[in-house]
Amino acid sequence: MSYTSLMHRWSSDPEAFWMDAAQSIDWVQPPTKALDDTNAPLYEWFSDGLVNTCYNAVDRHVEAGHGERVAIIHDSPITHTKHEITYAELQARVASLAGALRAKGVEKGDRVIIYMPMVPEALEAMLACARLGAIHSVVFGGFAANELAVRIDDCTPKAIIAASCGLEPGRVVHYKPLLDGALEMATHQPDFCVIFQREQEVAKLEAGRDHDWHSFQYGVPDAECVPVEGNHPVYILYTSGTTGAPKGVVRATGGHLVALNWSMRHVYGVQPGEVFWAASDVGWVVGHSYICYAPLIHGNTTIVFEGKPVGTPDAGTFWRVIAEHKVAAFFTAPTAIRAVKREDSNGALIDNYDLSSLRTLFLAGERADPATIEWAQRNLKIPVIDHWWQTELGYPAVSIPMGVEELPVKLGSPGVPMPGYDMKILGENGEELPTGELGAIVTPLPLPPGTLPTLWNAEDRFRKSYLANYPGYYETGDAGYVDEDGYLYIMARTDDVINVAGHRLSTGAMEEVLAGHPDVAECAVIGVSDALKGQMPVGFLCLTSGVTRDAAEIQAEVVKLVRDRIGPVAAFKLAVVVDRLPKTRSGKILRATMVKIADGETFKMPATIDDPAILDEIRAALQSVGYAGD
Ligand code: COA
Ligand code: AMP
Repeated sequence: MSYTSLMHRWSSDPEAFWMDAAQSIDWVQPPTKALDDTNAPLYEWFSDGLVNTCYNAVDRHVEAGHGERVAIIHDSPITHTKHEITYAELQARVASLAGALRAKGVEKGDRVIIYMPMVPEALEAMLACARLGAIHSVVFGGFAANELAVRIDDCTPKAIIAASCGLEPGRVVHYKPLLDGALEMATHQPDFCVIFQREQEVAKLEAGRDHDWHSFQYGVPDAECVPVEGNHPVYILYTSGTTGAPKGVVRATGGHLVALNWSMRHVYGVQPGEVFWAASDVGWVVGHSYICYAPLIHGNTTIVFEGKPVGTPDAGTFWRVIAEHKVAAFFTAPTAIRAVKREDSNGALIDNYDLSSLRTLFLAGERADPATIEWAQRNLKIPVIDHWWQTELGYPAVSIPMGVEELPVKLGSPGVPMPGYDMKILGENGEELPTGELGAIVTPLPLPPGTLPTLWNAEDRFRKSYLANYPGYYETGDAGYVDEDGYLYIMARTDDVINVAGHRLSTGAMEEVLAGHPDVAECAVIGVSDALKGQMPVGFLCLTSGVTRDAAEIQAEVVKLVRDRIGPVAAFKLAVVVDRLPKTRSGKILRATMVKIADGETFKMPATIDDPAILDEIRAALQSVGYAGD
C-alpha cells in the first residue's frame, strides 16, 4: 500500500478505517460503531465496546501460545544488572499485584498514582491498574515533592505505588522521602501506599499506610481482567501548560488500544516478536505509549533502560543495548543523540557493535536539528525518522509511515500527516494560510482514536486550550508551515511551553516559583537555545525596591527554589537580575523578543513596546552570562 492510498482509505471513510483497525484488538464485546459525536465538539471512540487493556497487552499473547516470548528486558547500566521477563511471567506478576490492590479496595474507576523509576515493576504497576479498570497516573521521578502533591490533589488517588528510590548517575533519588513530603503537602490522602523496596536504598514504611510490594501480595488471589467500556479512562498523564497547574491528559481505553497497535506496524514498521526500544522514561508519554503499552499490545519485546546516553558508562551504551538485544526499531530524543555525538563525534564507538538488527531510528519530543539527523544517518546508515506528536495525541500524528511507504525524509521536517490528521496552518484571524507561510498548526475535529477526549476534572480548560481559538479544529500549540509536498515543519510553540532535553516544561510554572521569592518583585522566564538540550530556561528578576542583598545570593536562592518546587528536571540553573523588563504599552512582557535577543537573532522592534532602551539592558544582562552574542 502507498501512503497516498493509506490516506485515501482513511479520508474516504474514517470510521470504517478505524473499525477495521479495531479488529486487531481482542474485545469482550466489540464496538458497534467507531465514533460517538453526540457531545460534539467533544468526541469519543468505541464507547459501546467492552475491553481490557491488560488482557490485550499480556494475557492474549500467553493464550495465543507466546508465553515464553520475552515481554520486558530490563537493562540497567546504572546497577549493572539485566534481566528478562516473559509474557507468561508478566501475566503471573501482574495478576498477583492486581489481586493485592483489589484486596485493599482498588476498583474500576479508582485512581492510582505511580511514582517509580525505570524498573519493570513500573510497567507491572501500570498493567495491574489497567487489569482492574483503575486509572493510573504516573509521575516522572525528576519532579519535586510539590509537583507530586499537586497531582495527588488533582486526581485524588485511592492508592500510591512508589519505589524506595531511583538512581541517577552519581546520585540516589529518594523517592520515598519525596512521597512522604508530598503527602504532607497534599490535602488528599490515599487509603494506602505500596512501596517497591530497591536494594540501593530501603525506605522506612509507615505502619498502617505503607505496604511492602512483595509481602502485600502474599496469599491474595490473582485478579482477572475487568472489562471496561471503550471510553473508560485507562490513564491520566499530567503535562505542562501555560500556567503552573499541569493539565491532566485523559486517555480512553478503546482508542488507545486500537491506535497504538496500529502505529506499531504502520508507523514503526515492526512485526510482533521483534524487539522495540524507546529510550525514554515511563513518566512521559513516550514511556506510556512506546515503552509500556504499544510494544506489549502488539506482542513485541520492550526494553526498560535505566541509564543515560552518555556516562553509563560511555557514549556507546545505546549501541551496546541495540546489539545485545537485537533491537529492530529504536526511538529516542534528539538531545540524546546530540549528547552521544558530542562525546563520540565520528561515531567510533558504533563500530564496536553489530547493529545489523536495527532497521530504523525514530526521533521525537523536540525539534530534530538537521546536523543531528545527518550525523545519525551517516554513522548508522539506516533511515532516521523525525516524527511529531504530543502528550495530548498519544502517538505519532506526523511521521514517515515506515510500515507503509518509505517516503523521502526532508531535513527539518517530521514528515507528513498520519491517518486522522489533516494539518492546516491558520493565521491570526483563523484564515487558512498558503503553502510555506508560518502560522498556528491545527487539525480538523474529530481527532482520531487514542487522542485525548478531555482533561481530567477540567473540561472547560480543555475547550479553552484546544478548541476555542479555532472552532472546528484542534489547536496543537505549535507554530509552523506546510511545504508544497505536504510536509510539516514545526518552528515554535505558541504558548509558554519550552522543551528542555525533550522534556516539556512550563515557563509560567517557573515564573510562579520565582515570584514567590520575597525579594522578587517581578520576573520572566524564557527558553534560550542550547546546543545540547535544545532549550534551557533563563530567569530574569526585578528585585523589590529597597533590597540591597547581593544579587548572586538571590540568584542562587531562586535556582534552589525551582529545583525544590518543580524538580531537577526543570534544569533551571541561570537567573539574572535586571532593573526592568521589556513590555508592551499594555504591560505584556515581550518574552519572544527576549528569546530572539538571547539567541542572537534579528528581530523587528515590537510596535507596541513601551521603552525600546530596555532591550539594550536585557542584551547586556544576557551577555554577562554568555548569551546574546557579543
Ligand atoms: N529522576 C530524578 N531526576 C532526574 C530524572 C529522573 N527520572 N531524570 C532526569 N533527572 C535529573 C537529572 O539527574 C538532572 O539533574 P542534575 O541537575 O542534578 O544534573 C536533571 O534532572 C536534568 O535532567 P536532563 O535534562 O534529562 O539531563 P540529564 O543530565 O539527565 O541528561 C542528557 C542529559 C544530555 C543525557 C540528555 O540530553 C538526555 O538524553 N536526557 C534524556 C532525554 C529523554 O529521554 N527525553 C524524553 C523525551 S522522549
Ligand atoms: P510532549 O507533550 O512532551 O510530547 O511535547 C510535545 C511538544 O514537543 C510538541 O507540541 C512540540 O512542541 C514538541 N515536539 C515534539 N516532537 C517534535 C518534533 N519531532 N519536532 C519538533 N517539535 C516536537
